[in-house]
Amino acid sequence: MSMLRHRKKSPYYGVEIIKNLDSFPKVNKEDFIEKSRIGGTVTVIAYILILWIIVHEVRYYFESHVDFKFMPDKDYDAKLRLNLDLTVAMPCSSIGADILDSTNQNMLKFGKLDMMDTWFEMTSEQRLNFDDIRRVNSYLREEFHAINDLLWKSGHSITLRKLPQREIIDSNPPDACRVYGSLVLNKVAGNLHITAGKSLHLPEGHVHISAFVSQAEYNFSHRIHHLSFGDSGVGIIHPLDGEEKIADINMALYQYFVEIVPTDVETFLSKAKTYQYSVKDSLRIINHDKGSHGVPGIFFKYDISALKVVVTQSHEPLLKFFVRLSSTLSGVFVSAGILKDCILFITKKLERTLYPEQKKNGVSVEKVPEEVYSL
Ligand SMILES: *[C@@H]1O[C@H](CO)[C@@H](O)[C@H](O)[C@H]1NC(C)=O
Repeated sequence: MSMLRHRKKSPYYGVEIIKNLDSFPKVNKEDFIEKSRIGGTVTVIAYILILWIIVHEVRYYFESHVDFKFMPDKDYDAKLRLNLDLTVAMPCSSIGADILDSTNQNMLKFGKLDMMDTWFEMTSEQRLNFDDIRRVNSYLREEFHAINDLLWKSGHSITLRKLPQREIIDSNPPDACRVYGSLVLNKVAGNLHITAGKSLHLPEGHVHISAFVSQAEYNFSHRIHHLSFGDSGVGIIHPLDGEEKIADINMALYQYFVEIVPTDVETFLSKAKTYQYSVKDSLRIINHDKGSHGVPGIFFKYDISALKVVVTQSHEPLLKFFVRLSSTLSGVFVSAGILKDCILFITKKLERTLYPEQKKNGVSVEKVPEEVYSL
């Protein structure tokens, strides 16, 4: 702005003295008016541009950013909560769930998972709900990079509707078992498994008593309604929700290798210490004759990442915003000034070559009204 004021005043300061020294040809009045019109147009454009920039910058300032930082997780003593809800295609009396972690502690120390007899075949309403969860979850997984900022900022989880209750009770005896609940685990690697028979904890370790369940009854087809660690919520996607596996062989061993990443979320709307996980799964057919040994069942082998992710939401500092805004705006002013000067210079040149005779009868500067000087 100051630059423009200067230009406005300069012809009037000491003009009388300077005028006498002026040996440059004068331009006529029409030229000046024409040129100031150019200046005016440039000014208007510059102001529109400035307004547009201000609007965008302010909007950008109010938008927050989500930042991710990785750092070693030193919170060794923290507990890890596991939330599980899954249905296995075997009656509850035939299966048992257990956990063994790398400190050799077992289920008894961590809590208890509830078991409820049910039917593996879902009602149509349940099927719709389950397919919804599956679809939404796979969409979220695929589009995660496009929407993750939004998920974090929204501060709430994608809480999908719980599986609706079965309305019509099947006349057949229950053929499946729903295993659900939360366990509080040590923050070390471990192995949660659901196998045939009940497990028995002995001082020497734990054994699975599966002798009473014949192998022909084994069916480890399962559906995972939910698996998460820590507090659910805050923009975290649980990759295993909506997983369904149908086994056509009795001796199936399903393994999920779960890598848990501690995640601290500090957004404007929520503050939580939680966990994300990634998972790989495999299916192995147990066949002792062919050297594929093991116990059929569903195994979740989990391990905890040594690095945690810290998710923060931040604003640009106000000062930085002002500095950037003012430098951008002054840049626009300077460029507009240069642009105007260039246009004036070019038009002047053009006029001189087109109407060379007008050079002689120039109009002196002081007669031109003030406003024509303004940019
Ligand atoms: C296990 O149960 C599912 C669902 O009822 C069925 O489709 C599958 O064929 C069964 N598998 C075995 C090995 O019986």
